[in-house]
Amino acid sequence: MLILLVFCWNFLAAKALEDAIFDPLAYVDPLIGASNGGNVFPGASLPYGMAKAVADTNSTSNQGGFTLDGAFVTGFSGMHDSGTGGNPSLGNFPLFPFTNCPGGDIDRCAFPKKSRAADGGFGNNTVTAKPGTFGITLNNGIRADMTVTHHTSLFRFTFPTLGSDGQPAQPLILQDLTDLANSRQDNASVAVDPETGRITGSARFLPSFGSGTFVLHFCTEFKGADVLDSGIFVNSRASTAVSNFTISRGINGYPLPGGAFVRFSSGAEPILVRTANSFISIEQACKHAETEIPQFDFEEVSEAATEKWREKMSTIKVSPVGVQGSLLTNFYSGIYRTMIDPQNYTGENPLWESSEPYFDSFYCIWDLFRSQLPFLTIIDPGAVAEMIRSLIDTYRHTGWLPDCRMSLNKGYTQGGSNADNVLADAFLKGMKDGIDWEDGYAAVVKDAEVEPYDWCCEGRGGLDSWKALGYIPVEDFDYKGFGTMTRSISRTLEYAYNDFCISQIAHGLGHTADRDKYLESSKNWQNLFKPDQPSSWWNGTNTGFTGFFQPRYLNRTWGYQNPLNCSNLDNFSACSLQNNAGETYESSIWEYNFFVPHDQSTLVALLGGPQTFTSRLDYLHNTNITYIGNEPSFLTVFQYHYSARPALSSLRSHFYIPASFRPTPDGLPGNDDSGAMGSFVAFAMMGLFPNPGQNVYLITPPFFEEVNITSPATGKVARVRNVGFDAGYKNVYIQSATLDGKAYTKNWIDHSFFAEGKELVLVLGERESTWGTRVEDLPPSMGEYVGFGIPGNTTRTNETTATRSMNEIGKAWRGGYLGLARDQT
Ligand SMILES: *[C@@H]1O[C@H](CO)[C@@H](O)[C@H](O)[C@H]1NC(C)=O
Ligand SMILES: *[C@@H]1O[C@H](CO)[C@@H](O)[C@H](O)[C@H]1NC(C)=O
Ligand SMILES: *[C@@H]1O[C@H](CO)[C@@H](O)[C@H](O)[C@H]1NC(C)=O
Ligand SMILES: *[C@@H]1O[C@H](CO)[C@@H](O)[C@H](O)[C@H]1NC(C)=O
Ligand SMILES: *[C@@H]1O[C@H](CO)[C@@H](O)[C@H](O)[C@H]1NC(C)=O
Ligand SMILES: *[C@@H]1O[C@H](CO)[C@@H](O)[C@H](O)[C@H]1NC(C)=O
Ligand SMILES: *[C@@H]1O[C@H](CO)[C@@H](O)[C@H](O)[C@H]1NC(C)=O
Ligand SMILES: *[C@@H]1O[C@H](CO)[C@@H](O)[C@H](O)[C@H]1NC(C)=O
Ligand SMILES: *[C@@H]1O[C@H](CO)[C@@H](O)[C@H](O)[C@H]1NC(C)=O
Ligand SMILES: *[C@@H]1O[C@H](CO)[C@@H](O)[C@H](O)[C@H]1NC(C)=O
Ligand SMILES: *[C@@H]1O[C@H](CO)[C@@H](O)[C@H](O)[C@H]1NC(C)=O
Ligand SMILES: *[C@@H]1O[C@H](CO)[C@@H](O)[C@H](O)[C@H]1NC(C)=O
Repeated sequence: MLILLVFCWNFLAAKALEDAIFDPLAYVDPLIGASNGGNVFPGASLPYGMAKAVADTNSTSNQGGFTLDGAFVTGFSGMHDSGTGGNPSLGNFPLFPFTNCPGGDIDRCAFPKKSRAADGGFGNNTVTAKPGTFGITLNNGIRADMTVTHHTSLFRFTFPTLGSDGQPAQPLILQDLTDLANSRQDNASVAVDPETGRITGSARFLPSFGSGTFVLHFCTEFKGADVLDSGIFVNSRASTAVSNFTISRGINGYPLPGGAFVRFSSGAEPILVRTANSFISIEQACKHAETEIPQFDFEEVSEAATEKWREKMSTIKVSPVGVQGSLLTNFYSGIYRTMIDPQNYTGENPLWESSEPYFDSFYCIWDLFRSQLPFLTIIDPGAVAEMIRSLIDTYRHTGWLPDCRMSLNKGYTQGGSNADNVLADAFLKGMKDGIDWEDGYAAVVKDAEVEPYDWCCEGRGGLDSWKALGYIPVEDFDYKGFGTMTRSISRTLEYAYNDFCISQIAHGLGHTADRDKYLESSKNWQNLFKPDQPSSWWNGTNTGFTGFFQPRYLNRTWGYQNPLNCSNLDNFSACSLQNNAGETYESSIWEYNFFVPHDQSTLVALLGGPQTFTSRLDYLHNTNITYIGNEPSFLTVFQYHYSARPALSSLRSHFYIPASFRPTPDGLPGNDDSGAMGSFVAFAMMGLFPNPGQNVYLITPPFFEEVNITSPATGKVARVRNVGFDAGYKNVYIQSATLDGKAYTKNWIDHSFFAEGKELVLVLGERESTWGTRVEDLPPSMGEYVGFGIPGNTTRTNETTATRSMNEIGKAWRGGYLGLARDQT
């Protein structure tokens, strides 16, 4: 008995010690991506939380609220999205504190957002950001700390002793009826209770990348000082004689500044401001606030928030031995950012009655399907199951799966109906958890079969042509549904992959006729392949490659788009959702040439065989045609696996990380897009990259000696171990591998690795080997792998000049980076 107790004690002590030594939160820097267009929300949030508190700046890139780019703070608000492009999202009902109004005259406080920004200067080194908390000190001496529960933000403002007029502090805190994008619509209202200072209100706003409007309510209460007086303001004038009003949209397209304020008799103690939001009602907002933060206890709330994050972040443990702290920060911060958005609005959906979960801020699925949602499927499958139930419930009540969704509204579709890929990915990985897969199947089939009248924001366009011709024609004739008639190539490629994903669910559910039908239409990408299409740079220099996708008319004749247009280097074409945009969305034909995730074997053959396929991938990356800051590039980093050169995938990922993904505020190469970039970093560094929509992870050596991933679903621990690991990353080539002790030669692995907690041991070396290069070792593909292993087409077994120089570049980056790193070890 005693022995047992001692054993338990030892075990627990060892566990506690291990946790104390290795705290993943020590490696999370929420400020990564807070400048240079990362648009990351760096403030206080719970995992998938609705309340997201941060200081908002007047940067022109303030989509995530706060930025570290020299812009000024204009307010402190509690609703945000993270990493998005489009217009700035949310940022509703900001607070702003003044130590006092000069001479005690409220009219001398600068109420409107534009003018109060002058008071919002701050020093970069005053900013503290940690999972669950955020703080900043303004140059005027006001310190603002903030933390959150699920729907409620708690701000703590600490004031200097004297105001700008030299008089003792008599703080005034305003709350205004605006948002980051100045999208407020007509008839917003606010009321302040003169007794308690409680401020409540409601307003209608626009979603940041979609159609429609939404109404948001708030409820704000104060603690820490006596209320001196209160009132409302309109434009730059305020009055204590009025305690509520309704305000118009404004004039000349800019919402009229307006809101309420409370003034306090003393600033000696910090003033706590508890503010909650609700999409349902003011009453519900107040109820959230009262139940979630009854005591205004800042320390307690922030500790609880930190603990929630520690729990979520503890599913992945890596060995920090020898590894630069900056790489650990890169990794764990990437993981952290995958759990900011989507947001859990369960119980907050005014649109329909349902007992199903409701998630929002899928921003956008075109970005999320590639690696963020597959990543969460590993570390938080319960959350993904709720998200999928929510997507299916959205289909039940709106008629369609969304492709993008924010603030209760439909977002714009970028290409295909990519929720199909999300459902297939989870289905193939065995996710059940209360998901009604027959309804899920009906939802994806509707995408494939029924064209919406307005396909701006759901489903697919051009279905008649798709079915009659087997591709989306350029200048399509479509009188049944309406949408932007561009992107015919990228839509064809995405629809083909969507159909493949549908076929996989059909197979699993036993709908065999459907399976065959969608497998057949998943070949439609081949109809836009023009084998004799050459590609030259705009100056006439030939790239040397032949065979590219091209646009095709209704009469089956070919159109033309320069395969390099819409690439990273093309700064002259419109390639987004503009009416005059190209036939590929946000990327070139060069890059889309690889987007056949389900039939790489056939693609390899069409592009000229494995050797040429490899050279094309090299050319794509080496000449900067690809842009690692946008999601279509993600899979191309690892597609060498399909031409039997898994070593080159490893080299590429070591090239991009940390060269293009650095753990600094300006370190992201593009918008994080929710946590898409974060998940790319996490997967790449973990050494298992998904081909999303399939039960496939492509194997490369992790950036750490060891990675342990505990499945929250089964409690089992999956483990990847590098033998011969060197933290200088010379040994990035797998020589051999074992899975649970048995030789393993496939260059990919399936989800049972995580679910069943297997152990993958990778023996590394300095040179490319033949591991994972035989046809039987390559990942699944619809067609046959042909042309492999033939001299002249053969797998390279030695490092080439190109790869050597690439590794040198990567090393130079890593070396140069050492000096800059904000190492935390
Ligand atoms: C804060 O950092 C940003 C980004 O590095 C920079 O633009 C800005 O000038 C800095 N501000 C100060 C006061 O140093
Ligand atoms: C932000 O506010 C500061 C201070 O008022 C001002 O100088 C700056 O021009 C503003 N920036 C923008 C983009 O409006
Ligand atoms: C705002 O309220 C006024 C007065 O009640 C009403 O006439 C007007 O239609 C409202 N505007 C909107 C957009 O609902
Ligand atoms: C608004 O103020 C008026 C006048 O003080 C008061 O009668 C009314 O009850 C207030 N309405 C709300 C919603 O607080
Ligand atoms: C991974 O798990 C194994 C087996 O439980 C353990 O020995 C090892 O220390 C763990 N590694 C890390 C990095 O946590
Ligand atoms: C989402 O919110 C609901 C209601 O608060 C809660 O029951 C559920 O656990 C949350 N889901 C996740 C993944 O946090
Ligand atoms: C044309 O542009 C390509 C890509 O920038 C470059 O590699 C090539 O040298 C250029 N050719 C000429 C003749 O300038
Ligand atoms: C096919 O349609 C295109 C676009 O309308 C047209 O330019 C082309 O001449 C047509 N080709 C034939 C063979 O009719
Ligand atoms: C592609 O880019 C070139 C610029 O060199 C431009 O002239 C052309 O119109 C663009 N569009 C297409 C469809 O190729
Ligand atoms: C290389 O493979 C392709 C098909 O993948 C084939 O067409 C070509 O003839 C092969 N080349 C050689 C030299 O065998
Ligand atoms: C590619 O872009 C990187 C980063 O901007 C730059 O350093 C490099 O010179 C570019 N390479 C080519 C071939 O343009
Ligand atoms: C390939 O590498 C091996 C050593 O790993 C070496 O013996 C051989 O000469 C190399 N072959 C070529 C063609 O470089």
